[in-house]
Amino acid sequence: MTVERLATDADLDGVLAIEDAAFNNPTTREWYESELKRPAVCFIYVLRTPECPVAAFCAFWRVVDQIHINNLAVLPAWRGQGLASHLLAEVMTESARMGVDCATLEVRRSNTAALRLYAKAGFVEAGVRRNYYTQPVEDALVLVCKSTP
Ligand SMILES: CC(C)(COP(=O)(O)OP(=O)(O)OC[C@H]1O[C@@H](n2cnc3c(N)ncnc32)[C@H](O)[C@@H]1OP(=O)(O)O)[C@@H](O)C(=O)NCCC(=O)NCCS
Repeated sequence: MTVERLATDADLDGVLAIEDAAFNNPTTREWYESELKRPAVCFIYVLRTPECPVAAFCAFWRVVDQIHINNLAVLPAWRGQGLASHLLAEVMTESARMGVDCATLEVRRSNTAALRLYAKAGFVEAGVRRNYYTQPVEDALVLVCKSTP
């Protein structure tokens, strides 16, 4: 497995295919194309396996010493094999290299798999955004991970 920054149109097609497979209201190509024009803020990492050029991805913003993870997902056929854990660990390591010491994200309250993934990575609950999601309407839990000095 390798984790690299999104580099080509084919990588973006791979990310959008995962979006379509993973989310009820997938983030649009237009959003990604607009975000990719801000490479100092918007970071997208893709996880490659020998068989699959984009098996998972993580999109986040970096603002000074913090990142906010917007999306992280794995192709359904590749789940349950540690890919998300590996990708998240690489994102946190790479962020630390950039001087980041705090990561935040929102996650659906019912998303047990994601909540376990993030808890294993050291994220803790910091708040709730009521009815944050649509399709279906659901609260978001705000999770935070701070590196220890
Ligand atoms: C959440 C998601 C990214 C996990 O990806 P994954 O590659 O299967 O995760 P991993 O194999 O690295 O598993 C990490 C941990 O998550 C938990 N987990 C993963 N799948 C799970 C499931 N179906 N049910 C319960 N827990 C699960 C486990 O605790 C697991 O650790 P363990 O195997 O040591 O117990 C994947 O299910 C996904 O893409 N879901 C749809 C998109 C999404 O919800 N993204 C999160 C948005 S905030």
